[in-house]
Amino acid sequence: MTSTSPRKIIIDTDPGQDDAIAILLALASPEELDLLGITCVAGNVPLARTQTNARIICEVAGRPEVKVFAGRDAPLSRPLVTAEAVHGKTGLDGPDLFDPKMPLQTQAGVDFIIDSLRQEPAGTVTLCPLGPLTNIAAAFEAAPDIIGRVQEIVLMGGAYFEVGNITPAAEFNIYVDPEAADIVMKSGVKVTMMPLDVTHKALITRPRIDALLALNSRVGQFAAEMLDFFERFDMEKYGSEGGPLHDPCVIAYLIQPDLFSGRQINVEIETQSDLTLGMTVADWWRVTDRPPNALFIGDVDAEGFFSLITQRLARL
Ligand code: RIB
Ligand code: CA
Repeated sequence: MTSTSPRKIIIDTDPGQDDAIAILLALASPEELDLLGITCVAGNVPLARTQTNARIICEVAGRPEVKVFAGRDAPLSRPLVTAEAVHGKTGLDGPDLFDPKMPLQTQAGVDFIIDSLRQEPAGTVTLCPLGPLTNIAAAFEAAPDIIGRVQEIVLMGGAYFEVGNITPAAEFNIYVDPEAADIVMKSGVKVTMMPLDVTHKALITRPRIDALLALNSRVGQFAAEMLDFFERFDMEKYGSEGGPLHDPCVIAYLIQPDLFSGRQINVEIETQSDLTLGMTVADWWRVTDRPPNALFIGDVDAEGFFSLITQRLARL
């Protein structure tokens, strides 16, 4: 997919070390992506940290002019569940952190999403959720007129063959706010999902971290230190050679979609059962007559993915 002008995107995020790499990749790719703003959501860590972390990442990238907004601090109708065990207390453990100087925008993140979709030409803004879908669903509920104006939602979330990571049945982003995910999946918007089925094939390995260190740059060092910390939880849990790099799959897909492959299928969200709450019930084998509502990505060229990340981060 080549286009003459960069694609307008809003990144909705809960940084999170993997979110951070996704943001850096987007900032390093102005030919393909026009980042309208970053809206933060409570997820990996509380909102106060996710909005601070997003600004830290922009400053490390040398981009203090990026507009960062605070969105919702809790799921639509449930208490917040966080993941400090994976990301550390700050959500960005690994490198030395600092208090960002760049401002947090005063406008609420949900209102920024609504206003951007109303002001930009219809069908020209792609939403890139990298955390719980609370902000997106809240925007759709507050302003149903924007739903038809969204070009596409490319999100990280869900799991099918890979099963869950926060419960046996559910992936974290969906589990934290299943009602929000249900609203998004039933909205009718074109959705591309990056579930654990694909992100677990994008493993951070020592050579891949060393390639970031070899950039001999502040960004390379910062990224390597984040990933060194971030991957240990999943390496211990899965006994794998590295941890999965989830969120950058969303941004890499927008830059180089041929790195990925998937299937247009129906995906519904479990919102009632305590046992399987937040499960993405993906009809991969099309055994139901439920209409397809998502491109469910199952595979990635991992070498190409990490090469893209390293090449682009070298620009910052
Ligand atoms: O399950 C992985 C997802 O949960 C990623 O987005 C990670 O950042 C956490 O938010
Ligand atoms: Ca995330």
